[in-house]
Amino acid sequence: MEVRAVERFGGDVMRVIAIVNQKGGCGKTTTTVNLAGALAADGYRVLIVDMDPQAHATLAVGLEPDDLDANLYEVLVEPAGASRLDSVIVDVSDQIDIAPSSIVLSALEQKLATERHDARTERLAAAIDTLPPLYDFVLIDCPPNVGLLTFNALRAASEVIVPLETSFFAIDGVQKLLETISLLSDRIGHELHVRVLPTLYDGRTRYARQTLGDIRELFKELCFDSVIRLNVKLREAARQGVPISLYAPTANGALDYASVALELAASPPEQLAPRPKSRDAEADAPSEGGPPREVVVRFKDGVAGDVRIAGDFNGWVPDRGVRSLIASEGQERVWTKVLTLEPGTYQYRYVVDGEWREDPTNPQTAPGPTGQPNSILHVR
Ligand SMILES: Nc1ncnc2c1ncn2[C@@H]1O[C@H](COP(=O)(O)OP(=O)(O)O)[C@@H](O)[C@H]1O
Ligand SMILES: [Mg+2]
Repeated sequence: MEVRAVERFGGDVMRVIAIVNQKGGCGKTTTTVNLAGALAADGYRVLIVDMDPQAHATLAVGLEPDDLDANLYEVLVEPAGASRLDSVIVDVSDQIDIAPSSIVLSALEQKLATERHDARTERLAAAIDTLPPLYDFVLIDCPPNVGLLTFNALRAASEVIVPLETSFFAIDGVQKLLETISLLSDRIGHELHVRVLPTLYDGRTRYARQTLGDIRELFKELCFDSVIRLNVKLREAARQGVPISLYAPTANGALDYASVALELAASPPEQLAPRPKSRDAEADAPSEGGPPREVVVRFKDGVAGDVRIAGDFNGWVPDRGVRSLIASEGQERVWTKVLTLEPGTYQYRYVVDGEWREDPTNPQTAPGPTGQPNSILHVR
């Protein structure tokens, strides 16, 4: 599990990812543009598709929608437009292109109102199918509603990222969204791999810390390890019309999106499905038996925003089956992890802001499969 190598894809595999949430202001556009920047910095070629009539992503890469000759409207308004996607695309940097939006996209819903659902929601998918295999990733920024444009994005995508605000989080809306996505993927007969990304995280507020814990508890391995912290540089970069990877490459916002890019590249969709338990894992599992008991471990840190624990007891899935409590002790924060374990000997590591580390307070370690030490836990 320590191996988090970036896998490169064959030149002709495009991963199409829709960034979706019907709530405005949760970081969809920020995620689209800055994830594109981070992936580009890792050498991937990225196409941004701006499906929001507000054109925030178009603006955030330094383009003025009114100055552009063409935009997605003409691609989507009639089936024949699909082949025009290529001519609408604008080069924004070596590695990043964009299919720009315009306010006219808001007229599309009405314009296509009389067409069959299938016919009007497959336009973007058809257009993307006409593209030469130039891109490793296509990131689709969606408007803050689940209407025609978002449906087009979901039909075109095989993966979905749902940014979730940790500063203002309402589970009802998210559950409804996930239900919609699941109904849609049944209807169109293709599976959508959905993951949630905690955003706008302010680790100084108890509310945000609790919310992050709740989100992790709810979504488990469907939640990215990475967390996007609150960072004003992200706002500034958007105003300057460049991704943060170019505007302020050492800012927290740049580091956080770099970490998402790494996670994404390391987990293509076929690896996202829960893995069956391997024979090795069973052989490794402790077999001393006895009734399970609660075991508490603690991790203290002054700078970390997010700490999870993974080990052979939870299939190395961070925080799966673990109760987490976060408290403050002076300048430091203390993560308390409550594990329910049968007597035996276990190996574990902490995942600190997405980085795998041994337990600094535990001198007992064993070399893990890649040579890095795992911490050892004895339960009697
Ligand atoms: N991590 C962050 N830190 C600081 N500001 C952020 C962050 N993420 C987004 N913002 C700002 O919050 C506002 C809403 O974000 P945006 O990405 O446009 O949301 P959405 O596209 O979901 O409506 C924007 O002004 C953006 O610059
Ligand atoms: Mg937006």
